[in-house]
Amino acid sequence: MNALNELKARFRAAVEKLTDQDPQPFLEMIRPAQDSRFGDYQVNMAMSLGNRLAKPARDVAEDLLAAASIDDFCSDAEIAGPGFINIVIDDKWLKQKLSAVLNDEKLDVNRNRRQATYVIDFSSPNVAKPMHVGHIRSTVIGDALARILRFVGHRVITDNHLGDWGTQFGMIIYGYKHFADDQAYRHDPIAELLRLYRLVREITDFHATVKRLPDAEQELDAAADEFKQLDRQARPDDKAAAKKWRRETARASERLAEIEQTVATMRAKIAAVQASPEKMERFGKHRDIGDQVLAETARLHAGDVENLKLWNEFLPACRREIQTVYQRLHVEFDHELGESYYHDRLSGVVKQLTAKQVARPSDGAICVFLDAFDTPMIVQKKDGAFLYSTTDLATIQYRHEQWRPDAILYVVDHRQHEHFSKLFAVARKWGFDQIDLRHISFGTILGNDGKPFQTRSGETVGLQGLLDEAVNRARQVVNALDDQNPDGPQLDDVARTQVAEMVGIGALKYADLSQNRTSDYKFSYDKMVNLKGNTATYLQYCYARVQGIYRRGGIGPENLTGTLESFTFEHNDERHLALKICQFGEAIDETLVDFKPNLLAQYLYELANAHASFFNSCPVLSSTGNLRQSRLLLCELTARTIKTGLSLLGIDVADRM
Ligand code: ARG
Repeated sequence: MNALNELKARFRAAVEKLTDQDPQPFLEMIRPAQDSRFGDYQVNMAMSLGNRLAKPARDVAEDLLAAASIDDFCSDAEIAGPGFINIVIDDKWLKQKLSAVLNDEKLDVNRNRRQATYVIDFSSPNVAKPMHVGHIRSTVIGDALARILRFVGHRVITDNHLGDWGTQFGMIIYGYKHFADDQAYRHDPIAELLRLYRLVREITDFHATVKRLPDAEQELDAAADEFKQLDRQARPDDKAAAKKWRRETARASERLAEIEQTVATMRAKIAAVQASPEKMERFGKHRDIGDQVLAETARLHAGDVENLKLWNEFLPACRREIQTVYQRLHVEFDHELGESYYHDRLSGVVKQLTAKQVARPSDGAICVFLDAFDTPMIVQKKDGAFLYSTTDLATIQYRHEQWRPDAILYVVDHRQHEHFSKLFAVARKWGFDQIDLRHISFGTILGNDGKPFQTRSGETVGLQGLLDEAVNRARQVVNALDDQNPDGPQLDDVARTQVAEMVGIGALKYADLSQNRTSDYKFSYDKMVNLKGNTATYLQYCYARVQGIYRRGGIGPENLTGTLESFTFEHNDERHLALKICQFGEAIDETLVDFKPNLLAQYLYELANAHASFFNSCPVLSSTGNLRQSRLLLCELTARTIKTGLSLLGIDVADRM
């Protein structure tokens, strides 16, 4: 049991004595103290309980304390201000907990919870196009959640729901049929397919832009007129009217600027192609490419022999390509059942939905109408084609049959919010209301300018390039650290390369995982490997530093054992570090409430900070006797917690940095 759970259990009993309301919301008001001057934990429920019971909060606080009976593990409990209860955990309890953590390879984290089965659907890129920066978040967040849930004893099944059946295959099939360079394809199929994908995209984009331009220009004229008219109006004398006029003019000007920008980009795109006679000639021969690509995709879905043969040839190459990224990230999946896997089930799903009267025909399509949404979910189009949603419904059914999950977590970016809300509503209507379906949504990665992270030429950033650059930056940090080592450099070139890979990949993952997943965040290579900030590099360094102490002191595992008697708190920083160490399990509980790995990252950062303060004020190797042993053990517990915590985030450590 961790201290927070212990407190919650005691106060649950106390709240139940005072009121028959649900104690849970009150128990949420027990938190670790932010500032150690207010003790270790704060119980802040007396004010709201007092309101409910129409009693002074301080009296309620007294009653709570009397009823909670916490004397056996708290050395002090003080009522402060309007009715805060500040609690100090008994040193003996802390020492007992430290010894339990020390003597358990899982660091005494709660494992006695009910085991549940989780399916985690994450990464799930559309293959046949290069993986880009947008894929990193789903991949690292999903992987971290899988590791954490497994660590606390749940059954976890990870499934990479690859987009392996969509229009992008129509694109490379079309590209292959018209533009393939056989020799290049034989030599390096992945590179050639990538070239074909890009080429078809460029041509499609060009023709779509040419087609859209007149409308956009018309829109531009209209926006310009609207702005001119407003601008020409005399400013109204009436204050309220003037305010309205100013607001409208500003809005019109903003809109105008936006459309101007769009039209300029479109014109530039067209001009760039027009400047190249070869491109003009080549692109001119494929005016209907957009429709043709859709037709190739439809032929594939209909079982056309040639397209299916090409698809069967391309898919393994595409899978190999993404595997190289996963290998580098140390991410593995239990299953990789892509969209194509469900193709044969789709018509059955629509039949079942219709038979159950969940879905019905509307305008030639088959739709599910939902009370909470203005538009229905279409499960089969007029032309007979199935949709992304249909596949997702088939997938839920399959997962249920196969694994009987209690929950399915979809780690997918926030733009698919509406898709998942509808999907879950339809699934419940269909009868899967016993599964906890959750969209673990996340925000966008932004560049320094606050816009979605792109290369200088405005393209999305490829994942391989991103990893390379992160490792490059890490190499500089590793070189500098080792060059400045007071005992002289410790790492040869091979070791530096290995450490740089670990630091770079770790930094990239941590930069993502340490952000609240629901917000957008700004990507910065420099911040990512900063040795002094909230980074993986800082945490890895904290770990390596402890290993350095062991090397200098000739300390081996045999010196790192102990019981509750082994611990002494002489300095405040020692006790503070000890308390932090004991809170690892609490951080994991918190992380799993709303599946937010940033809470675990934040905890690890605070732990490393507590260790840094301790290290400044408490000499380890030069102290003697019990004190030395206690300090060594605090170092060991810190290092182990950092190592375990980072491994739950999918990040490695090294003994030397
Ligand atoms: N392939 C999809 C995309 O790139 C994401 C799939 C997410 N998972 C799911 N079951 N829909 O947008």
